[in-house]
Amino acid sequence: MLVSAKDMLNKARDGKYAVGQFNINNLEWTKAILLTAQECNSPVILGVSEGAGKYMCGYNTVVGMTKGMIETLKITVPVALHLDHGTFEGAKACINAGFSSIMFDGSHLPFEENLAKTTALVNTCDVLGLSLEAEVGAIGGEEDGVIGQGECADPDECKKIADLGVTMLAAGIGNIHGKYPANWPGLSFETLEKVKAKVGDMPLVLHGGTGIPDDQIKKAISLGVAKINVNTECQFSFQEATRKYIEEGKDLQGKGFDPRKLLAPGFEAIKAKVKEKMELFGSVNKA
Ligand code: 13P
Repeated sequence: MLVSAKDMLNKARDGKYAVGQFNINNLEWTKAILLTAQECNSPVILGVSEGAGKYMCGYNTVVGMTKGMIETLKITVPVALHLDHGTFEGAKACINAGFSSIMFDGSHLPFEENLAKTTALVNTCDVLGLSLEAEVGAIGGEEDGVIGQGECADPDECKKIADLGVTMLAAGIGNIHGKYPANWPGLSFETLEKVKAKVGDMPLVLHGGTGIPDDQIKKAISLGVAKINVNTECQFSFQEATRKYIEEGKDLQGKGFDPRKLLAPGFEAIKAKVKEKMELFGSVNKA
């Protein structure tokens, strides 16, 4: 069964740890993340960008695959299936397809439009029992071809969006998707503290988890971050393990060409990376 992210995030906020959102791309990714969550007895959020949804043949396919796996793999930890950086249209499509959690990213829109569209979704998600993430202050870097600037959110705008009754709020604090440049100044804890002071109990979301030093992750959690998104780091782990397998010529030995063998090292590498992050975020044994 898929669940809303609301309970898991409220518990994380109260317990001063964070739940990881790991983005999925295909069957191997989804299976690796679900099995690791179960082994770690950790709640988990599966993130699906609109591009990844399209790649996996649409949201219905993603819902069917995920629900099927939860049943067959006997996954009992809380799992939320979450649209990542959704448009208004994408949010509607995922609600209809059976996602249990939605992110509407109106951060690049004029603020009043972000406010109006988020308001419309708050009511719908509330009625259906789905969690809703909103965003203020665009996250930097590139994701699915969309390039953001890495802004620091305006705390007053954060309060206006939080007061609508969203479940969780992503506020830009100088974070960037993908690799951080060598001259990156680090997270703006000053912004995080100001946002937190305005939004009170609202669980905060940290995007761009890849490459943020561990001490900054821990500090962010101590200041109210309850959900951390990781995508690129799993991709790097998969890439490195797959490259090694081929460079060592293993695909040329015996039945090493079998896709189930070829993809196995990358699968194991994703599992190891997700476990490492769950330990760092403190969500192990919090299911
Ligand atoms: P990274 O790819 O930098 O880990 O960011 C993931 C993310 O924030 C997804 O929304």
